[in-house]
Amino acid sequence: MLKETLQRAALDAGTLMKERFHSSFRIDNKEGVNNLVTEVDHASEKVIMDTIRSRFPDHFILSEESGEIVMDSSYKWIIDPIDGTVNFANGIPICCVSIGVEHDGNMVLGAVYNPFLDEYFFAERGAGAFLNDRPIRVSEKTDVWKSCLVTGFPYSYLDTPNGPLEVFGRFIRKGVPVRRLGSAAIDLCWVAAGRFDGFYEHKLNAWDSAAGFLMVEEAGGKVTDFAGRPYSPYQPHLVASNGHIHDGILDVIHDRVRND
Ligand code: IPD
Ligand code: CA
Ligand code: CA
Repeated sequence: MLKETLQRAALDAGTLMKERFHSSFRIDNKEGVNNLVTEVDHASEKVIMDTIRSRFPDHFILSEESGEIVMDSSYKWIIDPIDGTVNFANGIPICCVSIGVEHDGNMVLGAVYNPFLDEYFFAERGAGAFLNDRPIRVSEKTDVWKSCLVTGFPYSYLDTPNGPLEVFGRFIRKGVPVRRLGSAAIDLCWVAAGRFDGFYEHKLNAWDSAAGFLMVEEAGGKVTDFAGRPYSPYQPHLVASNGHIHDGILDVIHDRVRND
């Protein structure tokens, strides 16, 4: 029932996103430069929340646009109704619905649906990760300098040591392809599917990474913070990889690479 509800919510919200893609919709600004929210983010969130609450009215919900619906429950749904809103608002079809489910503080289920490619990613703790029902695995690449990476940048620039542009520059100067798709959930799923070898980002929220984290882990990869500590959705730094190049990415982030 949990799995079916998760799938129903993700597919229905994704279908709505696709239907509204070429329509006109209201766009508002949130905190931060160009941090947008559209009418469709709210509509997608309503579809997801209605689906969950009709079946599990006592579950805790954390959703990007509505915040927390606090319940005394061992289950918590973590929802991003549109991940890639700037893409969506600009007619760029790289965006998705992302939903993770925690049980007793552990992520146990994750779903990410990109309706434009009709790609439904699903992961269940201990049971694997799947793309449209086919098992997926991370890549086998072992050399970080020969890898294909992806990252994202925050809406408000972080001017800190080892910040987003510095780390990006370190890879780019060495000729490493670092893509920027604009949807952290898709970035993570594409690491899980072996399309990217690694992903890092400096400032994420729980809803950006909850489902994608499990996808990477269940596909055989590794997800940590910038200190190499196990993933938590409630801290901003994230590195996800096929495992082999993980330390290599951390070394670049912390500028521990010798250039001689
Ligand atoms: C954003 C996307 C983007 C990432 C940002 C997120 P939103 O989420 O995941 O790729 O770089 O950090 O905030 O605003 O489109 O839901
Ligand atoms: Ca997001
Ligand atoms: Ca969002």
